[in-house]
Amino acid sequence: MPESPVSSKGLIAVCGKGGVGKTAFTAMMSKVLLEGGKAGKLLLIDADPAMGLPIALGIKITRTMGHVREDIIETARKGKKEGRVQLADMIDYMALEALNEMDDFALLAMGRTETLGCYCPVNDLLRGAIETLAKSFDTIIIDGEAGLEQLNRQVMRRVDTLIVVSDATSRGIQTASLIRGMVQDDKVIQCEKIGLVFNRVQGSEELLKQSAQDFGLDVLGYIPHDENIAYYDLVGKPITELPTDSPGFCAVRHIVENCVLR
Ligand SMILES: Nc1ncnc2c1ncn2[C@@H]1O[C@H](COP(=O)(O)OP(=O)(O)OP(=O)(O)O)[C@@H](O)[C@H]1O
Ligand SMILES: [Mg+2]
Repeated sequence: MPESPVSSKGLIAVCGKGGVGKTAFTAMMSKVLLEGGKAGKLLLIDADPAMGLPIALGIKITRTMGHVREDIIETARKGKKEGRVQLADMIDYMALEALNEMDDFALLAMGRTETLGCYCPVNDLLRGAIETLAKSFDTIIIDGEAGLEQLNRQVMRRVDTLIVVSDATSRGIQTASLIRGMVQDDKVIQCEKIGLVFNRVQGSEELLKQSAQDFGLDVLGYIPHDENIAYYDLVGKPITELPTDSPGFCAVRHIVENCVLR
């Protein structure tokens, strides 16, 4: 892990309709940030139970926050009161154990939850542990889901930048607009800045910009449909190994340099 925190880029969450390219975008954005050592200490959080991010990054992980959650619920069920108090003290340490540390970044996967039921106190404890863990990183990127409730309940209550990814469809833009409403009207999550990234763009950028503006959304940039991205996914190659001159990756670099690092 790099020692020198260059500068703080803060907390970035990526969300949007299913299948629009959130994970591909998160992986490419991480690659851009790592290339120039621009992120300082980087933490990636995969908030999707399907855990696509480790695959996109080409890494294998063994432990998730889902495992930590199961351990906590199991211990709390069996344990006496003293055991439960001890458990609360151990949660920061348990979250640290779920951290997958690579050479130049760390990855925390939320994973799947086997135990059904509402365990709000457990979620609160775990979210607190994640928030504590995040304090030792300069940049945190969360690969999330469309619904911000899960992000708020299980991962973070506030982010600096929310990047909403949409494909070039009206349903994608509508989902983005719903997310904007969740943030600005319903205050589901606290956030300083919100912006839209169009992915797999093949047609007119002007038309997309206009539709986004109609929904009150600022466009951070456009990523073209890139055959390399689709091919890498098809054959199971990490997206982070894309050629640096691949059109999709160049577009992400432009977005990161002009909108994220500013
Ligand atoms: N710019 C692009 N050009 C071509 N293919 C792309 C592009 N961006 C993403 N894809 C492909 O689209 C599919 C969905 O991408 P991805 O998994 O990143 O979406 P997602 O929003 O994370 O999905 P989910 O909601 O399931 O987590 C993948 O097969 C990916 O390879
Ligand atoms: Mg995904």
